[in-house]
Amino acid sequence: IGAIMPGIIDWDELWRATHAGGFHHHHGQDGQDLVSHWDSRARGFNKRVMKNTERAASQVATLGLLPHETVLDVGAGTGRLAIPMARLAKSVTALDQSIGMLQCLEENMAKEGIENIRCIHKSWEDLAEEEIEPHDVVLSSNSLGVLNLKESLAKMDSLARRAVYIFTFADRRRDDGLADFLSRGKNVRRRHSGPADYLVIYNLLADMGIYADIKILDWQSSEYYSSLDEAVADLREMYEIPAEREAELREFLSGKLTQSEKGLGMHRRHRQAMISWQKGEPVST
Ligand SMILES: C[S@@+](CC[C@H](N)C(=O)[O-])C[C@H]1O[C@@H](n2cnc3c(N)ncnc32)[C@H](O)[C@@H]1O
Repeated sequence: IGAIMPGIIDWDELWRATHAGGFHHHHGQDGQDLVSHWDSRARGFNKRVMKNTERAASQVATLGLLPHETVLDVGAGTGRLAIPMARLAKSVTALDQSIGMLQCLEENMAKEGIENIRCIHKSWEDLAEEEIEPHDVVLSSNSLGVLNLKESLAKMDSLARRAVYIFTFADRRRDDGLADFLSRGKNVRRRHSGPADYLVIYNLLADMGIYADIKILDWQSSEYYSSLDEAVADLREMYEIPAEREAELREFLSGKLTQSEKGLGMHRRHRQAMISWQKGEPVST
């Protein structure tokens, strides 16, 4: 990675400090590690995310995958992106540390008749670079559950032949009231607040001599429920909201959901950051 010039801020250390208590896209209960967290949520997660094929397709379209290319999907989950990517590329390697998520991925592959995805059950931090061959594209989508960010990014960079793409939520506090509701609960660990993840990743990359692009993607998600009970049950599972907060959650949701012909709708706005860089020789003029 060329000459490393450390700046005033140690971004790698800052990342470790802000994530010491867990990762913002999960609200695990005390003592529960990231692996068992995803193992136990795999089915519910799969059901929720695999519905939104449009968003997955638009995310995949930005990668410009070619039919001869191979993709390494770090933290592939249940294959929300791996499956549409496998339709466009030559093959996909799906790595995940959660066996529950990979089981769902394999079921999804069978259902969709996809055969060119290879699953690797491993944490990105435990994978030695020599264990895996380089891929044209290396991708991570809301899945950088790592404490050693610098090492993890360096591994992504060195295993990529054409480009690296990292997707992460840009807005820690979403403007829909749900984040506030959740943070009032005791089930959420207090964490040091630092800059949003994408800013830490971007700055650390620059210190590593990697000058990445950032693109902010703005989208709205809509979830429809047939009853308030169903919405309460779904959110309780998704955010591991304890039973004693059920009444409070019900009250919050009854003010939030809107009735339409599709059912009771929960609409949320999300801002996601896409950090990417291209490998290879500079363009000469
Ligand atoms: C929010 S899900 C995202 C899944 C998928 N990338 C997507 O966009 O739908 C996060 C996934 O990343 C996995 N993950 C998080 N940190 C990881 C790590 N260090 N190594 C391997 N997998 C990881 C989790 O097990 C989980 O399946």
